[in-house]
Amino acid sequence: MEDFILDEAKIAQNRDFIRKTLSETGRNGMERLLSWLDNTDFYTAPASTKYHLHCEGGLAQHSINVYELLKAKVEAGLIDIKPETVAITALLHDICKANFYVKETRNRKIDGVWHEVEEWGVNEKLPIGHGDKSCYLIQTFMLLSPEEYAMVRFHMGRESDSYSDGFSKAAAKYPSVAAIHCADLEAAYIVENRM
Ligand SMILES: [Fe+2]
Ligand SMILES: [Fe+2]
Repeated sequence: MEDFILDEAKIAQNRDFIRKTLSETGRNGMERLLSWLDNTDFYTAPASTKYHLHCEGGLAQHSINVYELLKAKVEAGLIDIKPETVAITALLHDICKANFYVKETRNRKIDGVWHEVEEWGVNEKLPIGHGDKSCYLIQTFMLLSPEEYAMVRFHMGRESDSYSDGFSKAAAKYPSVAAIHCADLEAAYIVENRM
């Protein structure tokens, strides 16, 4: 697969879309959250080190992909989720990856010759678990409803950290937990696999 690249104009467009969509939720604390995000690398960070959308701006693009897929489930009549909940959970589910990826220089042998190459690595400063960290960061600025908390906390489904049994219980209580998990999988493994 060719390396996918997002140009500066697309990165700026994605940032504007995310800011506008989150701001329109009108939730208490959202403006403070958006100011904090502006001071992180959220809009330019990759979505992963070498898997889906490991390019500059990949994290924001992935968040928008999950948003579009989750919104489509509501529009198709599969599930009823409030628009502000779709926006907040989809666009912020991976906020834990802000200020997380770092560029590292490594020596790699390519065709028998050593080269210095730049690759993405991680520097986790708050190792409290993927979904938990996203919930913690969002709630530093604004309150999540119990449903939103469950959706962000368990968006990785049964891979959601150590509390794997929690996913089934959370999804049984809030079907939107299953919906955002599916949207996350579809974005990473189907949509972004074609990018
Ligand atoms: Fe995630
Ligand atoms: Fe994700």
